[in-house]
Amino acid sequence: MVKVTVCGAAGGIGQPLSLLLKLNPKIDELALFDVVNVPGVGADLSHICSNSTTSSHLPSAKEDKTALADSLKNSDLVIIPAGVPRKPGMTRDDLFNINASIVQGLAQGIAETCPDAFVLIISNPVNSTVPIVAETLKKNNVFNPKKLFGVTTLDIVRANTFISQLFPKESKPTDFNINVIGGHSGETIVPLYSLGNSKQYLDKLSEEQQKELIHRVQFGGDEVVQAKNGAGSATLSMAYAGYKLAESILKALDTPNVVECTFLNLDSSIKGASEAKKLVGNLDFFSLPVKLGKSGIEEVQYEILDKISDNEKKLLEVAVDQLSKNIEKGVSFVKK
Ligand code: NAI
Repeated sequence: MVKVTVCGAAGGIGQPLSLLLKLNPKIDELALFDVVNVPGVGADLSHICSNSTTSSHLPSAKEDKTALADSLKNSDLVIIPAGVPRKPGMTRDDLFNINASIVQGLAQGIAETCPDAFVLIISNPVNSTVPIVAETLKKNNVFNPKKLFGVTTLDIVRANTFISQLFPKESKPTDFNINVIGGHSGETIVPLYSLGNSKQYLDKLSEEQQKELIHRVQFGGDEVVQAKNGAGSATLSMAYAGYKLAESILKALDTPNVVECTFLNLDSSIKGASEAKKLVGNLDFFSLPVKLGKSGIEEVQYEILDKISDNEKKLLEVAVDQLSKNIEKGVSFVKK
């Protein structure tokens, strides 16, 4: 029996993400939590004739903790797209003040109710919200680094699409699975086009075109924020990306060799994490490809860092510098 909980289920990401989860035959129970509108979303989804049951959980007042606890009870996997999205001109870091406490509150609920669940963080700034969740779980003595995932999958989705758009006659987006490492905002996002089957296409681009492609992946979210013109950021592509990571985590429960990139805590209990940490300026959190298994993250594929191009090494240096500040901001938010 698999139970999945979505916190922020009535939002722009939460609704399409819940729809995709509702269709997954591996999920038996889908619990939706939000502070607004969630009974309607739940009633709507509950009419779909898929395998899972649907429940909705809305707090009756600000102090009401039972709705969250009910949604999380016996949950195996919790996905968090709760919080506010960007408006034009905002960076992800501008969201910190509001989203940090929302995420901390939800992490506290997880610590108290379902500490063994896989936890996937979508709420921005991911570079800081993931450390907030880790610190909150640590404070409660229930932190398992193998089960905490910062969702950076949308960067991979964009990287695959954007290179294919440059070679429409020779390729499809589904031909690619670009590793995107680092973090999830602007220059902390480092797409590794020099590896695998994308290299042959990268080599056909001028230096200027390569720069533009990488910049487009790093700042692709801005295209959506501008096009939505004040009505939020990526929701549909994000729901697809968040679902893809959740689907892989569930698949890895009974299938070997499932690999995904995720922003993780480089804790020494994870195979390859200490080696990775040394190669990324001793950062505690970083996005890298990881091998998934029954118990979550089984192995960090740090070897990839030895294979990257000189240009990617330079991008990595910039990413490491910015990430250390983002991570520290999240950690000290909880410690204070
Ligand atoms: P939205 O405003 O449409 O939805 C957010 C939902 O969270 C709302 O329904 C709201 O009521 C709910 N919420 C607020 N406080 C809550 C709480 N304490 N508990 C439960 N639910 C709560 O926003 P949208 O577009 O769905 O974005 C959500 C977050 O995802 C934002 O922080 C955004 O920046 C982030 N995001 C992350 C991406 C990534 O690649 N990781 C990509 C795109 C967005």
